[in-house]
Amino acid sequence: MDKLIVEGGNPLAGEVSISGAKNAALPILTAAILTEDALRIENVPELRDIATTCALLTQMGIWVRRPEPRVVELSAHALSNPLAPYDLVKTMRASILVLGPLVARCGEARVSLPGGCAIGLRPVDLHIKGLQAMGAEIDIDHGYIHARAKRLQGARIVLDLVTVTGTENLMMAASLAEGTTILENAAREPEVVDLAQCLQAMGARIKGAGTDVITIEGVERLHGATFKVMPDRIETGTFLVATAMTGGRVVLTDTRPDILDAVITKLRETGALIEAGNDAISICADTRPLAVGLRTAPYPAFPTDMQAQFVALNAIAEGTAIVTETIFENRFMHVQELRRLGAEIEVEGNTAVITGTPNLAGATVMATDLRASACLVLAGLVARGETVVDRIYHLDRGYQAIEAKLSALGARIRRAS
Ligand code: EPZ
Repeated sequence: MDKLIVEGGNPLAGEVSISGAKNAALPILTAAILTEDALRIENVPELRDIATTCALLTQMGIWVRRPEPRVVELSAHALSNPLAPYDLVKTMRASILVLGPLVARCGEARVSLPGGCAIGLRPVDLHIKGLQAMGAEIDIDHGYIHARAKRLQGARIVLDLVTVTGTENLMMAASLAEGTTILENAAREPEVVDLAQCLQAMGARIKGAGTDVITIEGVERLHGATFKVMPDRIETGTFLVATAMTGGRVVLTDTRPDILDAVITKLRETGALIEAGNDAISICADTRPLAVGLRTAPYPAFPTDMQAQFVALNAIAEGTAIVTETIFENRFMHVQELRRLGAEIEVEGNTAVITGTPNLAGATVMATDLRASACLVLAGLVARGETVVDRIYHLDRGYQAIEAKLSALGARIRRAS
């Protein structure tokens, strides 16, 4: 199984280009289900989860082609098998995003019920309740969600809590429903907005994406389109934190500072100098970071997908920080591994108290999920000697060529099997 070997101590310097956003590309690719016409999606990151999504769509009878790097062309004119099998869903929870589009387009769907994952139970009850409110008949049968509806009906849906893929699933389903759907307490994440813009390019009538009330007026059919996926704000944030930890000067290009306010604000509190342009961000850090406390919450608050990276930063920062995770009930798995590098962290319920130390020392550590693996790589960049990060396949799910990008910035990092 692949490992990453990181030798600490090098400041980062230079320029790095940010890839397309995983969490926008995944729902956007599933939107192909909603039309018979061809879709061309550009700036698609080269990731394990993208390959899984393409395999999932292909086995449904959808024509999928990758004519050039970072481009996917799809056509669902011959969609014949509205099924998402266990073997694919177990490797990627986001497969649930085919449920809404399949019911809306085919009137039927069989989707394996996603199991729990390392960071939490992660039920999909709100996806199901929303589709039932639109008139779908749903039952769980032998581990599969079986949904049927002649034609979905517009409805007013108040989501019990903010769910990103739940909002995306229901927004896609509602775009072909009869009548108008109002989603209240909807997720405001930039990835939801990117999906809405792709659906609008396909002819959908959507208002309010980016706010907590989204209105979708259903149409008879959607048409083809060409769409460019937004940059990945979590990859951007990860490289910014890496530079704040190692010290150095880095320019991130092909990104969007306007969707990273909460992260940039926290990084400035650590003492890093950050300049934001239209599609580039530069960071300069030449002192040991100051500890910074944070609390995760739905957008536009501090993203849970940046929590682990900031725990790594606080582990070497000057001072003590309190980090509270409010989205997932089990998202401190990286703490035990950081302790193996000598970090001083106490966890109580959903709160971690981190006392910074400049003396992390390399060791072998194990990645448990995508963002935890990024956290361990960042800690390895500053720990004395070599850190070996095991189970790196988690990282490949969400970061395109991270070791090549970090090496280009001067990091000593390599892959080994
Ligand atoms: C999306 O997951 C992202 N994944 C996650 O990124 C991200 O951490 C999360 O949103 C929060 O920002 C994708 O977009 C593919 P939620 P999602 O539904 O949609 C509870 C990464 O690292 N909930 O917003 O699955 C749930 O258990 C990944 O890239 C229900 O109770 O998250 C959680 O506590 C990890 N019932 C909370 O809501 C439901 O039906 C928010 O989850 C749905 C969710």
